[in-house]
Amino acid sequence: MMPEPTTPDAIRLALHGVGCRFGKVTAVDDVTLELRAGEFVSLLGPSGCGKTTTLRMIAGFIHPTAGTIAMDGEVLSSPSGSQPPQRRNMSMIFQSYAIWPHMTVAQNVAFGVKLRGLNAATVKQKVERILDIVRLRHLAERYPATLSGGQQQRVALARAMVVEPRVLLLDEPLSNLDASLREEMRFEIRRLHDEFRMTSIYVTHDQAEAMVTSHRIAVMNHGRVEQVGTPYAIYNNPKTRFVAGFIGRTNLLEGKAQGRVIRFDGFAADTTLFAFAAELDGDATLSVRPQSIGLAGAAPAPVAGRRMWSIEGTVTQRAYLGEFWDYIVAPLGGNMPLRVSAPPAVDFDVGARVWMSIDPTQVVHVT
Ligand SMILES: Nc1ncnc2c1ncn2[C@@H]1O[C@H](COP(=O)(O)OP(=O)(O)OP(=O)(O)O)[C@@H](O)[C@H]1O
Ligand SMILES: [Mg+2]
Repeated sequence: MMPEPTTPDAIRLALHGVGCRFGKVTAVDDVTLELRAGEFVSLLGPSGCGKTTTLRMIAGFIHPTAGTIAMDGEVLSSPSGSQPPQRRNMSMIFQSYAIWPHMTVAQNVAFGVKLRGLNAATVKQKVERILDIVRLRHLAERYPATLSGGQQQRVALARAMVVEPRVLLLDEPLSNLDASLREEMRFEIRRLHDEFRMTSIYVTHDQAEAMVTSHRIAVMNHGRVEQVGTPYAIYNNPKTRFVAGFIGRTNLLEGKAQGRVIRFDGFAADTTLFAFAAELDGDATLSVRPQSIGLAGAAPAPVAGRRMWSIEGTVTQRAYLGEFWDYIVAPLGGNMPLRVSAPPAVDFDVGARVWMSIDPTQVVHVT
């Protein structure tokens, strides 16, 4: 398969101010998102946040009620009209793989290319090539009912990719698989993408899936995109409480800043610890990941040149999860418990007095 003659970082797909209302329900609200050719972007968010609706507008099954969707500079969808799905040169993969039970693996994969009027030899060559890539060549003559879930999913992927779509759209493609297969398939999708560099949008509510597969993640909530960024940026620099809490676990600490002090329920911090000190005034929320909090049985000794935020508390709950301890620690004299992940060797009983120490560079100010 030849990549299309586009410069690698040309904008392939552009959504500008896209909205979709169903009567009184605003399913998608003012979404702006651009994908470069070859980029893999996930739409990540909870059930009902508008992911599928966004994907279906991109595919052309639903018309936006606001904004535009353009591919390679040409507007495909706007409130005044949409190009039909079959003219868009996109492939979509659904949660239910929708492969045909009465066709073999090879026939399923060949179906879309045959429709394009290619000769038999070319079809055969394309099908064999893609079956090699998804590692199904040895099963080419099998019927779907005799395949595992992961194998069926790979048939669906092969069928979507063999037609060389300009954009590949995937809607929760792994949600029918069991947990371990899902984990394996995430890497498989990433591998296929690294090989083909197909411009792809991947819808999921599973943060790990989004992080493994994607160059960038667009986190959606209530129809809006709250933040777009690399997995690293989204995790380490969430802009909002929602993003901080949806991507991994976190402690959201609600405080009140006044002068050089920010007070929480039972503890406080010197605001000058934080690079964002200048932003703090009045009510503020800080996000601290459980694994960014160290635990010790005594007050930590000061280290020259390194300022830490130290909070004294009592262990109120703990669970052993093998790879780490999951602690709940209540700061003294308050009612704002913190969740702390500690390595297996950091072993404190319930009731133990502990000191939590937090590297201020690991604390994020969220809105
Ligand atoms: N045809 C429709 N008519 C009315 N409301 C709709 C229609 N399609 C979707 N909605 C509503 O729009 C919102 C977004 O739906 P959408 O299917 O895009 O969510 P989603 O993020 O894909 O969720 P999930 O993770 O559950 O698949 C929901 O509140 C849904 O009920
Ligand atoms: Mg959906």
